[in-house]
Amino acid sequence: MKNIVILISGGGSNMAAIVKTAKKQDWATRLNAQVAAVISNRAEATGLLWAKKQGIDSASIDHKAFDSREAFDQALMQRIDAYSPSLVVLAGFMRILTPGFVAHYAGRLINIHPSLLPAFAGLHTHQRAIDAGCKFAGATVHQVTAELDVGPILAQAVVPILEADTEANLAARVLTQEHLIYPDTIAKLLTSN
Ligand code: GAR
Repeated sequence: MKNIVILISGGGSNMAAIVKTAKKQDWATRLNAQVAAVISNRAEATGLLWAKKQGIDSASIDHKAFDSREAFDQALMQRIDAYSPSLVVLAGFMRILTPGFVAHYAGRLINIHPSLLPAFAGLHTHQRAIDAGCKFAGATVHQVTAELDVGPILAQAVVPILEADTEANLAARVLTQEHLIYPDTIAKLLTSN
């Protein structure tokens, strides 16, 4: 069975969309794949509780308990590697990862970012798109490389920016699209692996 490990920091709605799609599309039988674990750097991440209720292994490793990024990433790697994952999925995981971590999972580490990369890497993507007068926003699924939000693009969804858009309602519309393209991209990657 191919294991997927999902990393979250908060609500985990992308993680939930992946878990629900895996169930609906019967990835276990069709793709020989399962979401094996959900890990958060924040114990209070509400997504962790949801995952636990689904019977998925859930754990938190508090980044604040470590002296350095390297030490945290080592502990995280150790926990992830217990599942020998085919794919490590960042789903709202709000930590910058060390080059060592990224190299360790080269080719099997993906992220979703709430903008049409290469535009608006980093934070506050929706407000920045509105402020720039963009007519379209969106989301990007990409391979993770050592440079933040720069790896090869696997999928994108485009969402029009409306006259009356606020950061919050644009984010909500983009998130709805994220919930479609992320599971879809993962299924494609698992099929081609
Ligand atoms: C999503 O919009 C995701 O694209 C974004 O955080 C949100 C997490 O929502 N990720 C980043 O900004 C990564 N730089 P979720 O916890 O409900 O999936």
